[in-house]
Amino acid sequence: MIRCVSCGEEYDDDEVIYTCEKCGSVLELVNEIDVSKDIFDGRKDNLWKFKECIPVDETKIVSLDEGGTPFCKCDKLGDELGVNLYVKVEGSNPTGSFKDRGMTVGMTKAMELGVSTVGCASTGNTSASLSAYAARAGLRCIVFLPSGKVALGKLAQAMFHGAEVMSINGNFDEALEAMTALALEKHLYLLNSINPYRLEGQKTIGYEIVRDLGWQAPDRIILPVGNAGNISAIWKGVKEFYDAGFIKDLPMMTGIQAEGACPVTNAFRKGDKRVVPVENPETIATAIRIGAPVSDIKALNAIYDSNGYSETVTDEEILDAQKLLARTEGIGVEPASAASIAGLKKLVDEGVVDKGETITCVVTGHLLKDPNTAIDACTKPTEVDADIDTLREILMNK
Ligand code: F0G
Repeated sequence: MIRCVSCGEEYDDDEVIYTCEKCGSVLELVNEIDVSKDIFDGRKDNLWKFKECIPVDETKIVSLDEGGTPFCKCDKLGDELGVNLYVKVEGSNPTGSFKDRGMTVGMTKAMELGVSTVGCASTGNTSASLSAYAARAGLRCIVFLPSGKVALGKLAQAMFHGAEVMSINGNFDEALEAMTALALEKHLYLLNSINPYRLEGQKTIGYEIVRDLGWQAPDRIILPVGNAGNISAIWKGVKEFYDAGFIKDLPMMTGIQAEGACPVTNAFRKGDKRVVPVENPETIATAIRIGAPVSDIKALNAIYDSNGYSETVTDEEILDAQKLLARTEGIGVEPASAASIAGLKKLVDEGVVDKGETITCVVTGHLLKDPNTAIDACTKPTEVDADIDTLREILMNK
C-alpha cells in the first residue's frame, strides 16, 4: 500500500502516483516485515538479499548487483575525533553512488508497470544511475541536468549509457519541476526520489548498517542531505528493522548540508516541519546544490523522531574532510559525501556528538565522480625526465 505521509490517504501499489491527490504531500510505501532475520544469512550480499522486505515483483528484477557495500572501521580518524567510527562506502555501488539502490527497485517497478520511457532531473548521480539501469532494462531514458553544474564523471556516465541528455538553463530545482510536469502529463515514468519506490531501495543502507554492526544500531548515522530522500529512506529502513524486533535501539539521524544550500538545516534550527526554499543554492558539492528538497517533510520527521540533528558545513570544510578521509583512511569520495565527515568533525567540536559515540558516516559517491575538483585540490605532479640520477636526487631531498 502507498500512503500519504501527511494526511494518511491510501493508494494502491500499482498506481502511478508521485504526490498525494488529496493534500499534495509526499508518499511512502507501507510494509510490515513478517520474516525472521535469519533468512538473510548465507545469501549473496547484495540488496536483493532483503527481497522479502521490498514490495516489488521479484520476477521482474533489474539488477547490477548493487548494495552489500564496504563498511569500514576507521580507527585513525575515529581516534582523532574521539568516536568509534564506521564509514559506509556507497561509492562502491555499480555506477559509483547510492542511487543504484534506489534505481534497481525503481526500475523493477517500471518493468512491473510496463512503462517504455523513464526520466529524471539530476545533479548528476541519479542520471548516471538511471541511464545505466535503463540500458539494462532496455527502456528509453531522458535526463535533465543543470547546465554547467554537473561533475564530469557523472555527465560522462549519463551520456555513455545512451540517455537522452538535456542541459537545462536553470538549477536542479527548476529542472526537476519541468521533469515532474512532463511525468504528470504521462510522457514518462519519473524516477527521482519523490517516487516512493526509489526509497524502498535506499532504505537498505539502513538495513546493512545495523546488520554489519551485528544487529545493533549505531548511536548516530551522519549523511549529506540534498533533495532529502536518502536520510528519509535510511530512517525508514532502520525503523522497519526496529519494528520487526531485529534491533533494540534506533540511531540519531544527522543530516549535513552545505552552507550555501541548507534549507533543511534552516528549518531544523527553527523547529519547523517544512523548509523555506533557498533561492540560488551554491556549493562546490554540486551533488547537493539543491534549494527546494522534495522530501523535506520526511527528512525533518526523521531528524525530529530520532532525536537527531542537522548542521551546515562550508565548502572549505568539505574539501578538507574529503582530503582527510582520502589520506588517513584511503577512502576516496566526492565532495558531497565528505560533508558527512566534515559534519562529524564540526559536531564533535560543538559537543553535539559525545566522546565514545558509535558513529556511521554514509559516504554517498565515489571520488572519481568529480575528478576536476580532486585535481584542483592537489599540487601538480613534478615533470621530470626518466633519468635515475635526477629522480634519486629529487626523492632524497624531500
Ligand atoms: N550525496 C550524493 C553523492 C548525491 O548525489 C546526492 C544527491 C546526495 C548526497 C543527497 O541525497 O538528495 O537523497 O538528500 N544527488 C541527487 C542526484 C540529487 O540528482 O544525483 P538526497
